[in-house]
Amino acid sequence: MNRPASLILFGATGDLSRRMLLPSLYALHVDRLLPGGLNIVGTARSRLSDDEFRATARAAIEAHLPKDRVVTDRIEGFLARLRYLPVDVTTPDGFDDLAKAVGGSGGDLSIFLSTAPQFFEPTIAGLKAAGIADGARIGLEKPLGLDLETSRQINDAVANAFPEERTFRIDHYLGKETVQNLMVLRFANMMFEPLWNAGGIDHVQITVAETVGLEGRGGFYDDTGALRDMVQNHMLQLLALTAMEPPADLDSTSVRDEKVKVLRALRPVSDEEMVFGQYGPGSSAGEAAPGYLEDLGGTSDTETFVALKAHIDNWRWQGVPFYLRTGKRLAERRSEIVIQFKCVPHSIFASRGAKLTANRLVIRLQPEEYVRLLVMAKEPGLDRGEVTLRQVPLDLSLSETFKARPRRIAYERLLLDLIDGDPTLFVRRDEVEAQWRWVDAIRETRRKSGLDLKSYSAGGWGPAAGIALTERDGVSWND
Ligand code: BG6
Repeated sequence: MNRPASLILFGATGDLSRRMLLPSLYALHVDRLLPGGLNIVGTARSRLSDDEFRATARAAIEAHLPKDRVVTDRIEGFLARLRYLPVDVTTPDGFDDLAKAVGGSGGDLSIFLSTAPQFFEPTIAGLKAAGIADGARIGLEKPLGLDLETSRQINDAVANAFPEERTFRIDHYLGKETVQNLMVLRFANMMFEPLWNAGGIDHVQITVAETVGLEGRGGFYDDTGALRDMVQNHMLQLLALTAMEPPADLDSTSVRDEKVKVLRALRPVSDEEMVFGQYGPGSSAGEAAPGYLEDLGGTSDTETFVALKAHIDNWRWQGVPFYLRTGKRLAERRSEIVIQFKCVPHSIFASRGAKLTANRLVIRLQPEEYVRLLVMAKEPGLDRGEVTLRQVPLDLSLSETFKARPRRIAYERLLLDLIDGDPTLFVRRDEVEAQWRWVDAIRETRRKSGLDLKSYSAGGWGPAAGIALTERDGVSWND
């Protein structure tokens, strides 16, 4: 395979670059996964020298990679790959310098945009005008628009310079090990798939709960809200991977075709099936925590919590609700997919006084990584006439089983795939547009029906209405 000679990072001094991108690139360098001659050219508006950028990168690596992954005698070699060019993307000048720095165009160039979205269009125009886009791949960090219309504008601007097969839209959840494991669990094992449908499954729950609040991202978050920040992308990816038909192959077209079919089959959500909340004062990690408005320093009706009851209108999932829930300042940091199976059709143990609980499969993405299947077992004992049954876990702890393997940052996988040109774990244009179509309709229904924003205490599990959403169907969240 032709390896790229250069990677250009736009937004190289920004928060994502420092927390994730530079540490991930360094980790790939340590494991000798980067092409030998790969140059990394950082750009941003600040006027830094190469050495100042290298110092920023060193500090970022030391601060954000676990200690045992910072192999000190490899760091100089990594820093030697880095160069820096100040570029103001709103003027053409910087792009000519950039073209020189990467030796003009060629099929061996990857570009990663992690800038504010208003800079996407001028950056792409500048890359095209300077001939840098020819043959290059582009990675785009979210947010890619705020609705279908703005996302189309961005996608059109990108398509003007980069064909779809060289456009890599990031959803960092797709880089997480357990998310990739979801496909392995479903399609590399015989036992789940025959039951993975409306015949075997009662409902599905997808939770992405965070304990953090605004984290200084007030401006961005307040314009976005939980629905667009988390549901439109990460949660819909989890839903699509859980619900899709088995692709014929693991290639990017087969996998993404199947995901798009699910997204297109999502039924519009009714106003009774959606709950929006905003955290008020409460607690976090045992300490008093302010409410959203205080964190923001203003008034706002932006939601920091959303719960939805979704339906997929196809044969496989008819009548199986998918409950989705995400929020900031919740009781725990936890992302998981819960598959609630149906009960056995007839219990032979009922006459012996035993109650059965239906099987449940919990796929925990974070903070721990595990797959837990809850099954019925008999409690040991010589009871006469009666049997005592209990639900017990069959546990596969991925963190424990593979503990000799380092836990990777999702961006390690994604940056490597961008450099290698493998788009399987990136979001295709028709996929992202199907996501927006569904989410835009939710926002429209919310607006039209004048749904109010429910308040919840920081440190809890969201507003009572989020709990009622499942309880009225006789279902409890897996808390
Ligand atoms: C980002 C959102 O996409 O995902 C953040 O913008 C959120 O608001 C983050 O905190 C969650 O990612 P993770 O990997 O910590 O679950």
